[in-house]
Amino acid sequence: MSMNEITPGEMANTAPPSPAFEVAVLLGRGMPLGEQRRTLDEIGVALVNEGLAERSEIAFAELSDPALSVVLLHLRDEGVRSVVVVPVIIPFDRNLKGWIGRWLSRWSAEEAGAMRVVLADPLDGIADQLSPVRAVIERARLGTDVREAIKPLKIKAGASRIPDVSRVALVCLGPRCAQAGAAVIYDQLRRRFGPHKPDDLQENEVLCLTTNCQGPCNFAPLVGIQPDNIWYGNLTPEALEGIADRHLAQGGEPVSPWAFQPGERLKKTDGALVEPDLPLAAAEAGAIRIRQAFVRKAMVEDNALAGFMEITNLGTFDDMLLAIECCFSARIAIHAAGGHDDILAGEGLPLPLAAGSTIRLQPGRLHLMLLDIPDVPDPGSTVDLVLTFRHAGSMPMTCHVHAPS
Ligand code: FES
Repeated sequence: MSMNEITPGEMANTAPPSPAFEVAVLLGRGMPLGEQRRTLDEIGVALVNEGLAERSEIAFAELSDPALSVVLLHLRDEGVRSVVVVPVIIPFDRNLKGWIGRWLSRWSAEEAGAMRVVLADPLDGIADQLSPVRAVIERARLGTDVREAIKPLKIKAGASRIPDVSRVALVCLGPRCAQAGAAVIYDQLRRRFGPHKPDDLQENEVLCLTTNCQGPCNFAPLVGIQPDNIWYGNLTPEALEGIADRHLAQGGEPVSPWAFQPGERLKKTDGALVEPDLPLAAAEAGAIRIRQAFVRKAMVEDNALAGFMEITNLGTFDDMLLAIECCFSARIAIHAAGGHDDILAGEGLPLPLAAGSTIRLQPGRLHLMLLDIPDVPDPGSTVDLVLTFRHAGSMPMTCHVHAPS
């Protein structure tokens, strides 16, 4: 055998290492109407070729679609086990870099389940991406003088006329709003009120525009309506339907509970309207953590309280909620939705709680029902509950009774 021949053993040693992650998510900054996809695609291909991941996906921190939250949820539901998020922050923004880290760690704790998520150092300058820059320089060298291809300017009538609209909807596409689904809200508004090019606007239409962060990020996703001086916060597509019908199209009153006036403070927490001066209960036992817990009089049942909370299994083993006890309720069930007929089989118990998962009991969705209460306690009083888990054991907690929404 000559000196240059390679033995099978050596071949095994020189084979490229298997990719470190299943998916690399290239996280760009985004632009309202921008096309950042190709650059991110090219960087993604380079990272895959370097062996960082088996494949790459694209997401945006702000302004563009899809949001990082949407892409990560999709990957989790697909069963992907490991993801590396590679921020591409150009131009560099220290605040955005810090925010991505904080948001991603919180998202992972609450939503990632069994999927491992790693945050890479950001690509924040052209030094990291010299090959596409070199390609642009090469193409420019071969280009022709722009004076050889002068084209007439197109003058559109709408560009010289202030649009005659009744309202302007300012949809925030800043980082927090983008992750909370603002792109879906913007798309829904545009489909409802038509394209917003000045030439296409009719009288009394709503002009839909996008903005960067407007400041009150805890209201995400946020839409400002001018000249009414109203902000809609914590919007959902379902809520927007009613707002578009009753307020925006017909010029009616702002729609509660999503409408906020200047100076107003947030009263909303994780989808549940709560009285700001009544605390939300929290408890922990073993790997199980409960927070944001409260009860209030049920909407569709007399003699009943509805209960809401967020239950997280921080451990690496599955657990199960076996039983819930309350001294003055003869029957406790978990309902699937708002209606009386939505009691789950076996009244919803036992309730499996996979390792790393969070279950939210919230208004209009999965929630607790304390039934057959002879004398429903008033708002401001408290209710003692004991939740028993298979592995974490019993967890007593005292919940405040909040006012009905
Ligand atoms: S990101 Fe929308 S208000 Fe800050």
